[in-house]
Amino acid sequence: MFQQYKEAIENSNIVSKTDINGIITFVNDEFCKISGYSKDELVGQNHNIIRHPDVPKESFRRLWATILAKKTFRSTVMNMAKDGSTFYVNTTIIPILDQKGEIEEFIAIRYDVTKEMKLKIALEKKDRELEVLNRTLEERVRMQTRKLYELNKSLEERVAEEVRKNEEKQKMLFFQSRMANLGQMMANIAHQWRQPLTELSLTLFNMKKVAHQQDLKKVDAFYEESKQIMQNMSQTIEDFINFFKPGKPKEVFAPAQSVEDALQVFGKTLDKNQIDIKKRIDESLKIKGVRNELSQVFINLFQNANEAFEGASKESGRNIDISVAKGPNGCVRISVEDNAGGIPEDVLERLFEPYYTTKHAAKGTGLGLFMSKMIIEKSFAGTIKVDNTPEGAVFLIDLPMKGEE
Ligand SMILES: Nc1ncnc2c1ncn2[C@@H]1O[C@H](COP(=O)(O)OP(=O)(O)OP(=O)(O)O)[C@@H](O)[C@H]1O
Ligand SMILES: [Mg+2]
Repeated sequence: MFQQYKEAIENSNIVSKTDINGIITFVNDEFCKISGYSKDELVGQNHNIIRHPDVPKESFRRLWATILAKKTFRSTVMNMAKDGSTFYVNTTIIPILDQKGEIEEFIAIRYDVTKEMKLKIALEKKDRELEVLNRTLEERVRMQTRKLYELNKSLEERVAEEVRKNEEKQKMLFFQSRMANLGQMMANIAHQWRQPLTELSLTLFNMKKVAHQQDLKKVDAFYEESKQIMQNMSQTIEDFINFFKPGKPKEVFAPAQSVEDALQVFGKTLDKNQIDIKKRIDESLKIKGVRNELSQVFINLFQNANEAFEGASKESGRNIDISVAKGPNGCVRISVEDNAGGIPEDVLERLFEPYYTTKHAAKGTGLGLFMSKMIIEKSFAGTIKVDNTPEGAVFLIDLPMKGEE
């Protein structure tokens, strides 16, 4: 009966016996098969011959502590075969006691779980890999998000930078155009002075002559005349300087005033070139902004018309029509129209661009209309456009109307 059990167990399990010191006293065929050792190689050796180096010492300590306490030890153990390969066995070690209750030997019964363990380990490895992948995926998503965020930020910064640069450029253009206008004004002053300077030198010459003749009355007369001429010259400078004084406050005013200011400065030139000014102006209409800036726009328009007439024939007479009237949508509409022949299509498209000019470098910088547009749009929140008429060009300016304040 006992023999049959023994055979049944030995045939289906891996069995070994050791003495109390762990020296092998018996192994069955299954043991030899799985470990790769022969019976001769095993019997008489310490059981740790199949110990796997990766198993921590603590495990063996626990095993020995259990079986030396005469208790059964159960565990899945990793072992190493003769050829160095790993195998796993589900192990039960039972201490066999003699009649006195002392340990006689240990019998170990195992079955092979290598396949399952390897599967389990492979599964765990996959799990770990998956976890790592997941983690790195999260990490990568975080990194991409961060990169995107930074890209976004630098993009915002770049946009801000461009806007800033643009603003600077506009300021620069304003400045340049002011300088250009100043240059024009200097030219105007010089032009306006030419006549009185000639008069002045003539008067002085006459004064010298009458002084030699000791005609004191005439000396006084020529002196008064000189003083008058110089006062006029001084007034010319005053006019121009006032006109270009920057930083004037916004006020509510009638565009009619700006028209008058501009004519004050530029009227003489128009007169000289036989250009007639026709005005249809509703003087009650008011707008808000810096008055001399609008005057500057009129000057630019008059100057352009004046220059356009230079190339045009004189036959039909030279006219500039200025009108100020109620426009659509509660705005004041200003129009400045000339009959100087109009503007070619290709020029029309680029008219308001900075530095766009069809004139010789000495005459035009191409900033006049750009500046005018800036003033109308930025200072007055209005619009300016241009069109051709059968005889010339017309500039239409719409400005928000303001009531009395
Ligand atoms: N009334 C007009 N008739 C015909 N062409 C015009 C008229 N006004 C402007 N132009 C055209 O538009 C161009 C641009 O005008 P803008 O006032 O901007 O510059 P500019 O007069 O050439 O130079 P700047 O005004 O800086 O001295 C002119 O060169 C001219 O060809
Ligand atoms: Mg111009």
